[in-house]
Amino acid sequence: MLTSELDEIAKEIKKCRKCKLWLTKQNYVPGEGNCKALIVFVGEAPGREEDIHGRPFVGNAGKLLTEMISRKLNLSRKDVFITNILKCRPPNNRDPLEEEIKACKPYLIRQLKSIRPKAVVCLGRHSASLIFSFFGLEFNGISKERGKIYEVEVEWGKMKVIAVYHPAAALYKPPLREVLEKDFEKIGSILKKRRTLEDFMEL
Ligand code: URA
Repeated sequence: MLTSELDEIAKEIKKCRKCKLWLTKQNYVPGEGNCKALIVFVGEAPGREEDIHGRPFVGNAGKLLTEMISRKLNLSRKDVFITNILKCRPPNNRDPLEEEIKACKPYLIRQLKSIRPKAVVCLGRHSASLIFSFFGLEFNGISKERGKIYEVEVEWGKMKVIAVYHPAAALYKPPLREVLEKDFEKIGSILKKRRTLEDFMEL
């Protein structure tokens, strides 16, 4: 919960050499946003733009994500926390390797434990697969799991886990964009029924 805890994790990430990606990355991308966020978004790994700027989701997929957060949830990037499974860009945006996920996962788990969110939104199959398995949920593929709202018991109470298609997938497969919009609407519509985000999450 303390800002310093998240800062400390970011500092450690910026010195990380637990896998080989530090050799090819330009910048570490620890994540950014509200240290008390009620919703955390978890993507796959930084892409080209994110690697250049050291910030998550600032390229085309990021623009779509930012737009969804604003238009469908009525929130800004400053209200939420945005991060990735991997904190360094894999060369040519290839899929994360098992050993990279294994090495990087503790940072994500520590970030979640520090923020103590009420909901985690998994962006895409890599994120969903890791987060579902970590919290003991069965993952049956992104097309089956997307849009379903699960709830898990965590050290800080109950936390919702929701998988959606990755915004990048929605950009290159237009029919998926509609589905992504609907899934964000689903999160947003429950939100609107409640006075505050905190109330919504208590549903
Ligand atoms: N795709 C991701 O999964 N994460 C980013 O930060 C950018 C694109």
